[in-house]
Amino acid sequence: MTTPKADPAQWKTVDEGWGRQVADFATLSEPSNCREYVYVHHRLGVDDGDRLLDVACGSGLSIELAGLRGATGAGLDASPRLVAVARDRNPGCDIRVGDMSALPWDEGSFDVATSFRGIWGTTPAAVAELFRVLRPGGRLGMTVWGHLKVSPGVWSLAPFTLATTEKIGNQAAMVSLGRPGAGEQLLEAHGFTAIERAAVPFAFEFADPELYARALASTGPAHEAIQNVGEAEFRRVAVELAQAQVRDGLPLRAQLNVVAYLARKPLAGQPDPDAGDDVS
Ligand SMILES: C[S@@+](CC[C@H](N)C(=O)[O-])C[C@H]1O[C@@H](n2cnc3c(N)ncnc32)[C@H](O)[C@@H]1O
Repeated sequence: MTTPKADPAQWKTVDEGWGRQVADFATLSEPSNCREYVYVHHRLGVDDGDRLLDVACGSGLSIELAGLRGATGAGLDASPRLVAVARDRNPGCDIRVGDMSALPWDEGSFDVATSFRGIWGTTPAAVAELFRVLRPGGRLGMTVWGHLKVSPGVWSLAPFTLATTEKIGNQAAMVSLGRPGAGEQLLEAHGFTAIERAAVPFAFEFADPELYARALASTGPAHEAIQNVGEAEFRRVAVELAQAQVRDGLPLRAQLNVVAYLARKPLAGQPDPDAGDDVS
């Protein structure tokens, strides 16, 4: 697999895209992801006493849900404004601003590591870091976009194509980890074992086209489109697309294909007895 290279300093500018409408992102966009958080935590068997790190943690809803299962949560995100919300939602948790390619924790600090659509084809160094900070036998769960073009809800991402051709090309490289074999190969190359691919339940739901457009506008890829065509045009296109999807008496719903990779760091110095088994 050829791996597109990310600009090493790029993470410092991420806040502009993901943090500029932080309250909208935290309350209108992130809650739609709860199905994938619940699913991955369940598959990893997140439980009392687990030290769990969520990388690219956004506004921290996944850490809050892991806490409800008894885990002690930690998190890291490049956006200071998202981290402020994550800390507000998770008092006492160790949540830091930083780059997932250089995690500020010691080797073996965590029992469980997760990342929800935060690790991309363009950020392979983050996988090496997750391996390092997991203890031997530690469990990994990461999700990436699956085959979006065949997803029933692909219409909901169409406004992102209002970005420049260059930005759209980069978005395509970013989602390349969902292709069959791509994530498995990346995880195996970094030493993970018991690697499993699973289909994840994922759906955006909104009360009406205007709320959908507002939620979508708060995301990073939307920012790239807005820089190209302006916010009013972005929202106009989004509302128009969503109006065609309205169903009488039901919320707007966009089901999207998401893939989870579940894996384990082998036990030190010996063959992993759990290799090939479920990671939970
Ligand atoms: C698709 S969002 C996912 C956020 C969250 N996991 C969720 O489920 O909503 C991608 C996240 O990655 C963060 N991010 C981007 N580059 C990063 C980097 N190099 N290091 C840490 N976080 C990064 C962004 O700030 C954003 O919160």
